Amino acid sequence: MRRTLGKTPPAEVIEIVKRSGLRGRGGAGFPTGVKWGFVPKDSGQPKYLLCNADESEPGTFKDRQLIERDPHQLLEGIVLAAYAIGAHRSYIYIRGELVYGATVLERALEEAAAEGLLGNNIQGGGYDLTVSLHRGAGAYICGEETALIESLEGKKGMPRIRPPFPAVRGLYQCPTVVNNVETLCNLPHILARGPEWYASIGTERSTSWRAAPSGTPPSARSGARGRASSPSAGTWSGRGTTSCPCR
Ligand SMILES: Cc1cc2nc3c(=O)[nH]c(=O)nc-3n(C[C@H](O)[C@H](O)[C@H](O)COP(=O)(O)O)c2cc1C
Repeated sequence: MRRTLGKTPPAEVIEIVKRSGLRGRGGAGFPTGVKWGFVPKDSGQPKYLLCNADESEPGTFKDRQLIERDPHQLLEGIVLAAYAIGAHRSYIYIRGELVYGATVLERALEEAAAEGLLGNNIQGGGYDLTVSLHRGAGAYICGEETALIESLEGKKGMPRIRPPFPAVRGLYQCPTVVNNVETLCNLPHILARGPEWYASIGTERSTSWRAAPSGTPPSARSGARGRASSPSAGTWSGRGTTSCPCR
């Protein structure tokens, strides 16, 4: 974060993420850098970066583990994504049932603000970002990005008709990017170690790792497919989550 803010122009961050081949880990597998590139640069409107921590698919738990075990990795990813698209306001939308995860994140937000890792002039890089946590009421559909936006606006969580897409008209009708927790957690590593390193893992079309249930035999790692849905509780021998290359 320190090496990027105020030193690497936002447009270059977007190019780096495009070169890394990172694809969204929320389910659709859309290339993250390409999605960021859809945000209009000169709309004159505020922009928003939303972190999708709804994870309501029955039996899924990868985002929960990332939140509970390394919340600062996620916060760093949020800062980098928000910086890249020019947002100064970000919300984490967390599933209502994830009470412990919400507590962990609230504490991490306070710690980060106290250390100058959030707020004004982050790490002396001349960039400001405010991040707030919003707890959902526990509705599966609110994981869909436009329903999430409606819910965040205080309305019933009903999907919007697209187009327009959130990148052009999202939260409060302003340009908005919604990214999954795991997607955002990849960013500090891409920026620190470079897009070529990141792209050297996995396959050409699905680079790097995916979270997958521990103990899953390589032949059964469907959760490791770049475009597959989240790892879920199933018939596997281990406990918890691990990372393995996309196949
Ligand atoms: C019914 C439905 C539920 C969804 N639930 C989630 C969810 O819980 N978490 C998530 O990140 N994406 C979910 N998505 C995908 C989001 O709409 C969106 O594509 C994603 O958050 C974008 O992030 P990404 O580009 O980083 O993958 C859901 C989509 C649909 C259609």
